[in-house]
Amino acid sequence: PKKIRIHHLQQMKARGERWAMLTAYDQLSSAVFDAAGIPVLLVGDSAANNVLGHKTTLPITTDEMIPLVRAVAGAAEHALVVADLAFGTYQESPQQAFATAARLMKEGLAHAVKLEGGAAMAPTVKLLTESGIPVMAHIGFTPQSEHALGGYRVQGRGEAAERLLEDALALQAAGAFSVLMEMVPAPAAAAVTKALDVPTVGIGAGPDCDAQVLVWTDMAGLTAGKTPRFVKKYADLRGVLTQAAQEYARDVRHGTFPAPEHSFEE
Ligand code: KIV
Ligand code: NA
Repeated sequence: PKKIRIHHLQQMKARGERWAMLTAYDQLSSAVFDAAGIPVLLVGDSAANNVLGHKTTLPITTDEMIPLVRAVAGAAEHALVVADLAFGTYQESPQQAFATAARLMKEGLAHAVKLEGGAAMAPTVKLLTESGIPVMAHIGFTPQSEHALGGYRVQGRGEAAERLLEDALALQAAGAFSVLMEMVPAPAAAAVTKALDVPTVGIGAGPDCDAQVLVWTDMAGLTAGKTPRFVKKYADLRGVLTQAAQEYARDVRHGTFPAPEHSFEE
């Protein structure tokens, strides 16, 4: 397959074909998921947690994001690479957002950016889109606002479903090529998906979105401890890697590694 472009995602929505998206933060994960046929890779600001070890996504900077974005973009032959705008690097003004997004594209070689926020972000989405930067919008639960939202909570319940739809429509009208919804009731996400012409991506947003996204370390079972309800674990990489490390250390202790085949002769 060729390079995935935003019009291909649009065509998939028209054909009713669902697609999967994963985060990636380095060349290894990017190359694996790209070869596995994942059409869209997200260099999420969840790198703050999963790469840098922070408790929230808030501390990561654009300077920290850029090398990760560049590694993922460099290793992806087909996938569309979307980079998150970090907290505090775009909310001040559309101009600030443009400057940050331009860095992610010029220095990180991203193909598109993602930003959090509803209708209030429409002028920003408009400027970026008109400047040649494809924008994925992120609504519902927006982790960068966790302190304002009172923690990890489902958004868009009851009357808030109407607001979710208004936000999605405003972002689409501003030019967003896709709208991502996190932790919203499945029926609300289904209604937004039906109302929008552009593809929706869900995470904890039920089965009726046009696409789904998961954090790769959650999906592959590498993340420590309890993961959110919306995660499905497709592997136990943490168990596999722990066992490999333990066997290697045991072989070294016992003197059974390296064996002759791993050693050089005179
Ligand atoms: O940063 C991230 O991983 C994300 C996904 C949860 C959508 O924004
Ligand atoms: Na994110």
